Amino acid sequence: MRSMRTALALGRRSLARGFSTEVSPREMQLLQQVSRLEARIHEMEQDRPPANRPAKIDKWEDLAFGIVPTNGHVRYTWSGKTNSWDVGRFIADPYIPLHVHAAVLHYGMCLFEGCKAFRCKDGKIRVCNLDENSARMNTGADRLVLPQVPRQLFNEAVDWAVRANAEYVPPYGSGGSMYIRPFLIGSGPILGLQPCPETTFMVSVTPVGNYFGKGMPGIHATIMDQFDRAAPKGTGAVKAGGNYAADLLPLKLAKEEGFGTTLYLDCVENRYVEEFSVSNFIGINSEGAYVTPRTSSILPSITNKMLMQIARDKGLDVQERQVEWSEVASFREVGACGTATVAVPIASVTDQNKKHEFGNFEVLNSLRDTLQGIQYGELDDPHGWMREVEC
Ligand code: PLP
Ligand code: COI
Repeated sequence: MRSMRTALALGRRSLARGFSTEVSPREMQLLQQVSRLEARIHEMEQDRPPANRPAKIDKWEDLAFGIVPTNGHVRYTWSGKTNSWDVGRFIADPYIPLHVHAAVLHYGMCLFEGCKAFRCKDGKIRVCNLDENSARMNTGADRLVLPQVPRQLFNEAVDWAVRANAEYVPPYGSGGSMYIRPFLIGSGPILGLQPCPETTFMVSVTPVGNYFGKGMPGIHATIMDQFDRAAPKGTGAVKAGGNYAADLLPLKLAKEEGFGTTLYLDCVENRYVEEFSVSNFIGINSEGAYVTPRTSSILPSITNKMLMQIARDKGLDVQERQVEWSEVASFREVGACGTATVAVPIASVTDQNKKHEFGNFEVLNSLRDTLQGIQYGELDDPHGWMREVEC
């Protein structure tokens, strides 16, 4: 076992030339194989059964939005000493050894992304709009003073995680997709508040179904006016883990009252619509225009950007602007959009005791059908959003 390990380590070292020089696809493949073998050997050396028991899925149609054990995840480490990323590893064990003073545990140095891979009509696996996720993660990295993840590394990592778990991309026609979770954490130990000496970038994947469950006709939302989600100069526009922790109590209270999600208004005047708990707000107003808020405290949703483009392609007037809560009552349709939620109808929004109901969802449904048609390879991809992952 030990000699095998040494041979692998030597192989890895001779292949590992970092991302500063070009790594050929063949070298990358070999490196990935070496990493997988290393992960297995590591488990065997521990003299314990594999920590990870990949799931066997019989009913793809019944998938929920939850964690399904897969073959493993991809992990890269950045060191402040060398100011560079290593070549990464594929790791079967879903647990991470962390220093008790790891920055992420105390100071919330954490960013995450959400993207998806689809099994398309032609049987190929494609990922959607990754460059946008990579760019958004780097905006967040600057905001939280974490190192940027080079776009090439981000793409390699996602492809590696998808390829090594290809059997977990739900079959075409099942309605499911593979949810991809790239995330960046301050893993090095610090005590005083300062940039972190070590950062870890990981990509894990899990097959998913609908975020709100099967056959959900529409979600009932409530405005949580006793809470704010994000401040104009805060971290609302980046995907920082702490933003989600702040929404947990409002969400819990909303759910206790029978609502499916929370909607936030701006925290200065409580007058303008911001966004839902985990999705952007879209409205179709009385003139049939696509209206969505633009502020510095909401997450720039990649799904929203694609839906706006599809709406323009269909000849709709698209308005990205401040949206007064008072005008929403006259909207024909309201929806929530995001990677996980796609474009879900909002059946009602309750403001204190007043319930505003929305129906029909003709426009929203047609925009969602077009987006999903592109994602599953049923429709042309005129804007080049989809990229094949060779498996
Ligand atoms: N807004 C919030 C707060 C979110 O968590 C998400 C989910 O990612 C979105 C909007 C939608 O963004 P995207 O379409 O890029 O997934
Ligand atoms: C996504 O839609 O990708 C998100 O990150 C939301 C998350 C809470 C599942």
